[in-house]
Amino acid sequence: GTIWLIVPAAGRGTRMGATQPKQYLPLAGRPVLAHTLERLCQAYPEACLCLCLDARDSWFDTAWVPYDDWRRVDGGDERSDSVMQALEAIADDADDDDLVIVHDAARPCVSHSDLLHLKTVLTQDPIGALLAAPVADTMKRADDHSRIRYTESRERLWHALTPQGFRYRLLYEALQYVLRSGVPITDEASAVEALGYSPQLVVGRRDNLKITHPDDLVMAELVLAAQASSSRQ
Ligand code: CTP
Ligand code: MG
Repeated sequence: GTIWLIVPAAGRGTRMGATQPKQYLPLAGRPVLAHTLERLCQAYPEACLCLCLDARDSWFDTAWVPYDDWRRVDGGDERSDSVMQALEAIADDADDDDLVIVHDAARPCVSHSDLLHLKTVLTQDPIGALLAAPVADTMKRADDHSRIRYTESRERLWHALTPQGFRYRLLYEALQYVLRSGVPITDEASAVEALGYSPQLVVGRRDNLKITHPDDLVMAELVLAAQASSSRQ
């Protein structure tokens, strides 16, 4: 079946606080989104790309898209709305058991080996899977005044990363369910979990950071440089 690749890139980057959305900020000389799309295309060249962009976006340049076969979809109010817009846009062409892989535009440091590993898991998993990293820090649950209420056990606690991949029909039903019920979610796995399924956590590299705050750009430059030098050795 077809592999559909959805890249939500319709956010505004409020936490970044820049004049442009963060996916367009320069990282090692190129926009964040250009890095992300290049890495995805190197690992998933056969995929059909669906790029979610704000309808009033004035920064995007088609020259950054390394795919021949791709489409642009208008984003929605929340990330989950943007992904749903993409699922609606491909509804006529997607089969129920086609793989849909969703990756944040704001994660330009995802590694080639993690992308390949995830795809291998996905082709064998009936529910779905996501890259994730075990939590290393001690986790505190606070009250409204930033005072500790208790310490969460970090055992079996993971950071959910992207990509996240699911079969088309399951992801569609799951997102439709959570969007209708109004439960806010920040990733696709949460929607699938809400239907009672347990997606597979696939250990990914911890340097697959999501650019969120200004200092993340500095970190991402360091990550790209470190990855480039280790691949030269
Ligand atoms: N995204 C999207 N549509 C939205 C909101 C977010 O496509 N309505 C995308 C973002 O562009 C980003 C990814 O989803 O690539 C992850 O979202 P997040 O990190 O929250 O990005 P922003 O919403 O842009 O940032 P912020 O929450 O700080 O405003
Ligand atoms: Mg957001």
